[in-house]
Amino acid sequence: MILFWYCSLLLLSDVIAVNFTTCYSEYPNIICSCDHHQMICSNHGDTLDFIPKVPNNIKMLIFTNNTLNHVTEMTFVNMTWSKIAHLSLARNDIRFISKHTFREFTSLVFLDLSYNAIPVYVQISFSDLHFEENGSLILNHMNITETKMNELFRYLDTNGIKTLSLAYNNLKFIDSCDWVNFLSLKVLNITGNKLKNMTFKCQTKVEIIYADFNNLVSFPNFCLGNDNSTNYRYTKFKTSVPSLRKFSISNNIIKEMPPTVLRCMDDLRELFITKNSFHKIELQTFHKLHTLEMSSIFRYYQINKPQSHSKFLKASIEHLMLQNLSFGMFTTDLGIFEGLHHLRSLDLSYSDLPFSPMIFKCPSNQIVVKFDEVDITECRIKMYAL
Ligand SMILES: *[C@@H]1O[C@H](CO)[C@@H](O)[C@H](O)[C@H]1NC(C)=O
Ligand SMILES: *[C@@H]1O[C@H](CO)[C@@H](O)[C@H](O)[C@H]1NC(C)=O
Ligand SMILES: *[C@@H]1O[C@H](CO)[C@@H](O)[C@H](O)[C@H]1NC(C)=O
Ligand SMILES: *[C@@H]1O[C@H](CO)[C@@H](O)[C@H](O)[C@H]1NC(C)=O
Ligand SMILES: *[C@@H]1O[C@H](CO)[C@@H](O)[C@H](O)[C@H]1NC(C)=O
Ligand SMILES: *[C@@H]1O[C@H](CO)[C@@H](O)[C@H](O)[C@H]1NC(C)=O
Ligand SMILES: *[C@@H]1O[C@H](CO)[C@@H](O)[C@H](O)[C@H]1NC(C)=O
Ligand SMILES: *[C@@H]1O[C@H](CO)[C@@H](O)[C@H](O)[C@H]1NC(C)=O
Ligand SMILES: *[C@@H]1O[C@H](CO)[C@@H](O)[C@H](O)[C@H]1NC(C)=O
Repeated sequence: MILFWYCSLLLLSDVIAVNFTTCYSEYPNIICSCDHHQMICSNHGDTLDFIPKVPNNIKMLIFTNNTLNHVTEMTFVNMTWSKIAHLSLARNDIRFISKHTFREFTSLVFLDLSYNAIPVYVQISFSDLHFEENGSLILNHMNITETKMNELFRYLDTNGIKTLSLAYNNLKFIDSCDWVNFLSLKVLNITGNKLKNMTFKCQTKVEIIYADFNNLVSFPNFCLGNDNSTNYRYTKFKTSVPSLRKFSISNNIIKEMPPTVLRCMDDLRELFITKNSFHKIELQTFHKLHTLEMSSIFRYYQINKPQSHSKFLKASIEHLMLQNLSFGMFTTDLGIFEGLHHLRSLDLSYSDLPFSPMIFKCPSNQIVVKFDEVDITECRIKMYAL
């Protein structure tokens, strides 16, 4: 295989300048700033315990890290309810939310209540919470357990919720049946819980799941039904995730990725499995993906090269992120990349490559790799070890 290295400079998109002006101030140092659509009042701790007058044009209120122990409809009298689409009330030490708090918010598409120790009966207030299309409900860092989660969702109008975030809570187990009533849910973020297992007993139309930083020991089974058959090759399984296209499960302790593991994930295109505890990986497993990130896993483990003429050789992979790869552990050639004719980017940062990549050292370590006739056009390779 012929290998060329050459450089390209990263194009940095221009930073968008936003003009914020002070729209509320109070002696000695409470300041809120506004631009055309958003108002930001943050980090005043217990010196700010009410929402000041919100100008009429404001659609987005970021009111975080202040104090709002008791939230009621009155809390929001200083704003035009029907205008507000985006409301962030994270980290306000909210302990109580009254029943009709959200009733007058008719245009809401984003609500963030993260970092509040809200007691369980907040679910009553959720009965008056309605989202427009593409709604986001963000409930991170709230010590939510399985029981609390089910209570929270009991009266919630799940129509219109597209994104649900339950990151950094206290969930130990989750099943797709838990969100089966969220008919428009597309993105689920359950990163940073204590999940030991994750099951898919109900079919879900979710498209993206982030489940990084949990304690998962095995890759979830996405096949519906309890068929124990090990003869996967001849059995057609029904998927519980017909629309799942992106799944991120990095930083768990998954030990195995059997070659059949993606068999019920026909629509999956992006998989992130960095930092797990694999002992062995068959690259062939991933032949349908176009993006695969599996960094920091091969250093001490075994990577099985695909057999010639295998499916992986005709793989559709376009973006391959294999940071922290040790070529010392297996045949020191780049055979594992052979035949990846759709490859557009390859990230081998922090890897100890068996060849000298610094033939063309370039600014900002941006390197484009060319394999045979295949151009890898947007490659990011940073070399830190040889
Ligand atoms: C910010 O203000 C400057 C000058 O007042 C103006 O030219 C620019 O368009 C403004 N930018 C935005 C994003 O409103
Ligand atoms: C919250 O605000 C206080 C000041 O009131 C500040 O010291 C603290 O760093 C802020 N916390 C976060 C997470 O921003
Ligand atoms: C409304 O805002 C004003 C200052 O702008 C404040 O004095 C008042 O307490 C606020 N009302 C409520 C109910 O928070
Ligand atoms: C919701 O999201 C979809 C897909 O991104 C978009 O086509 C649609 O216009 C959005 N609807 C609203 C009301 O923003
Ligand atoms: C989180 O919830 C558990 C059980 O519901 C409770 O024992 C624990 O004290 C809570 N932790 C915090 C920080 O509130
Ligand atoms: C999931 O939520 C956590 C906590 O807010 C956040 O740090 C992380 O970026 C989210 N993940 C994605 C992919 O949105
Ligand atoms: C997942 O964990 C829960 C709680 O620990 C347990 O009840 C359940 O049987 C487990 N399911 C599977 C499939 O391992
Ligand atoms: C699956 O295997 C278990 C234990 O081997 C057995 O008890 C159960 O009946 C099997 N289920 C099916 C559907 O074959
Ligand atoms: C590389 O992987 C090893 C374990 O496989 C890990 O300990 C180390 O932190 C990783 N290094 C980087 C830079 O990610």
